[in-house]
Amino acid sequence: MSDFFPALRSVLAGKQPDAAAITALLSARDDEAKELFAAADAARRAGVGDEVHLRAIIEFSSHCRQNCLYCGLRRDNRALARYRLNREQIIAAVDEAASLGFKTVVLQSGEDVYYTAGALARLVEFIKRKYDLAVTLSVGQRHRLEYALWRQAGADRYLLKHETADEELFRRLKPGSSLAERLRCLYWLKELGYQVGSGNMVGLPGQSLEALAKDIILLRELAVEMAGVGPFLPHQNTPLKDAPPGSLELTRKVLAVTRLCLPRAHLPATTSLSTLSSDGRRLALVSGANVVMPNLTPPEVKGKYLIYPQKADITERPRQALDRISLLLAGMNRPIARGCGHAIKYVYIQ
Ligand code: 5AD
Ligand code: SF4
Repeated sequence: MSDFFPALRSVLAGKQPDAAAITALLSARDDEAKELFAAADAARRAGVGDEVHLRAIIEFSSHCRQNCLYCGLRRDNRALARYRLNREQIIAAVDEAASLGFKTVVLQSGEDVYYTAGALARLVEFIKRKYDLAVTLSVGQRHRLEYALWRQAGADRYLLKHETADEELFRRLKPGSSLAERLRCLYWLKELGYQVGSGNMVGLPGQSLEALAKDIILLRELAVEMAGVGPFLPHQNTPLKDAPPGSLELTRKVLAVTRLCLPRAHLPATTSLSTLSSDGRRLALVSGANVVMPNLTPPEVKGKYLIYPQKADITERPRQALDRISLLLAGMNRPIARGCGHAIKYVYIQ
């Protein structure tokens, strides 16, 4: 007998799983995985309902000072044509998102200090004054004072994936930085009152199931409002070009267990999962996910934010992307949320 069913029964009885139980859940065989996904789907419905929140993501700069081994935007990738959107271009994309009915814009970039803290604060302030939008920033590790300034300017949320909770793997994949530094940023963001999003990749070279269990436990400890879980996808201009991609099934399992451990968090069906499988978005939405993040980066630069190759949806115009998602959600009986979808604060009781 495998340890899967005792672990699942215990979670369903309301007990938070420890590392061993999470590992047992992640080890689910195919028939067991079906039960896991169904349990996560039920937990999603009970925790956050059937509504799906749409977040418009605007990738405003592909420059990055970091050199993460897995990422196509790493600074040593000289083959990548880099771009930066100016303030007017960013505002035009925000305007389009607002007129299409989005309630949240996510402003994302590589770690690009070309945009000063002041410039970003003024941009956030402008958006918050002019539009009825929640603003999420995702611009990497910065000083506490910068995070504070943006929060003061009205930024509601911040997205900073921890990437992997395995310290050794983190050091290897993100040269010159440590998991501790990243966690310090995440705790600052929480203290400053942001709704915090984090998350990790699945299938990184050298990543064990135990390491994935640590990811889920970390997300629970951080009590994140949002957690993005996506497969690692090798990019040809990175040192990890020959590594195999993360698997669809394992990524779904990690997503499902994350849902069981964080019943009220917002969990996106990630673009990386859609890139790995054309059915990835739907499969995520029936295994715990309740958020979709359509890409509203202006078409002239959209194909250039190449974190990993063949990113899904890069040729689509915003209206098309929205129509396709609306169709998928209608077919699944999952209404699009009308509100801006702030996360529900709650305390985990062990
Ligand atoms: N495969 C999958 N996800 C990746 N990311 C970066 N590189 C890759 C890759 N090769 C993710 C990281 C990062 C986000 C911007 O994209 O999780 O936080
Ligand atoms: Fe830069 Fe983020 Fe890519 Fe690392 S993962 S190279 S910080 S964009």
